[in-house]
Parts: sequence; structure tokens; C-alpha cells
Amino acid sequence: MNVIDALLARRSVSPRVVRDPGPNDAELNLILSAGARAADHGRMRPWRFILVQGAARVRLGEVFAACRRRRDPTANDAEIDKERAKPLRAPLVIAVAAHVVAGHATVRAVDQVHAAAAAAQNILLACFALGFGAMWLTGSNAHDPNVKRALGLAATDEIVGFLYVGSIDAPPEPLPVEDLAANVVEWTGPA
Ligand SMILES: Cc1cc2nc3c(=O)[nH]c(=O)nc-3n(C[C@H](O)[C@H](O)[C@H](O)COP(=O)(O)O)c2cc1C
Repeated sequence: MNVIDALLARRSVSPRVVRDPGPNDAELNLILSAGARAADHGRMRPWRFILVQGAARVRLGEVFAACRRRRDPTANDAEIDKERAKPLRAPLVIAVAAHVVAGHATVRAVDQVHAAAAAAQNILLACFALGFGAMWLTGSNAHDPNVKRALGLAATDEIVGFLYVGSIDAPPEPLPVEDLAANVVEWTGPA
């Protein structure tokens, strides 16, 4: 697929819709390699791609459930069960994180997080180009220090998102071309 076509046509596919199988090893290698070609201030390679597949998704669900209970002791059983089921919605969950080096001489923490986010977007595009459905989700789990710890991340790292990836029966319907008027200005000098 032509890169411009992919950029213009990519859409998210809800994890409710995707199914087995996930990408095979060769496809996953392409997808992650595309992620690792993201723009990267200082070539710090701040991204971490944590792959969760098969039975590990059950264990991640247990982490989500336990962390939800800790965050929200009043959550009812249905809410906890929903957390537990989240990772099981897709055959592959990629937790994309930024390993943040604080106090770097030239590259601010925010640039390191942005590089990891750029990697996540590259991964979504590669999934789309290879015919997989994918969606980037965060929610409270992405910002929970106990989830970070369970994923082997440091407290200073940032989870930029959970990318849910799986097969789809048909490519998503294309969306209309974006109206740029509200978001684009031509700057000609100080206001
Ligand atoms: C950083 C980030 C976090 C997101 N987190 C969520 C989320 O937790 N829940 C959700 O429904 N959509 C979330 N989204 C939005 C979806 O991934 C998706 O982009 C949106 O539904 C629009 O669909 P599209 O990608 O087809 O344009 C997030 C997007 C980004 C960039």
C-alpha cells in the first residue's frame, strides 16, 4: 500500500471487532520495525514495545482488575470483570511506553514521550497497511503506577498507550477527507 494512501485512509478498529489471528512473526517484525523508525529527538530510542499475547493477556487482565480495585475500592464486580476482560478483546496488545531519561542535557522528557507516541502512530499505520485492525487506547490503566510496575516499567516511564491489534473481516470504511480549515492557519508575523 502506498504510504499516502495509508496515511489518508487509516482508521481505528475497535477491539470489539478484531479477532484471531494476530500478526505472525514476520508481520510483527515489520510492524515493530515501522514503530522504531519514528522521529526521535537525539536518537534516544525511548520507546518500549511490550507485547502481550496468548495467556499473558489473562495475566494482564488480572493486573488491570487488581489495579482498578485499588484505584476504586467502590467498583462493583461487573466493573472489575470488565477490566479483567480488556486484554482478551484482541489477540495482540502492544503496550507502548516511553523510557524517560530525566534531566537530559538537550532532550526534554516531553520530547522523549512524543517520540514514543510517534512510534505508536507508526505501528497503527503499519497494522493498517498490512490489513490488521488496530486501536490506541489509554484510560486509567495507562496512568496507573501499579500497572507500570507490573509491566516492568519504572515509575518515571510513561505508558503512551495500549494498541489492540487483530484480524478484521474487511477494511474499515474510509472517512471523508478532513476539513483542514479549523486547524490550519498561515502565520505571516507576530500577532
Ligand atoms: C494518546 C491517545 C489515547 C487514546 N485513548 C483512547 C481511549 O482511552 N479510549 C478511546 O475510546 N479512544 C482513545 N483514543 C482515540 C482512538 O484511538 C481513535 O484515534 C479515535 O477513536 C478516532 O478514530 P480514528 O483513529 O479512526 O480517527 C486515543 C487516542 C490517542 C492518540
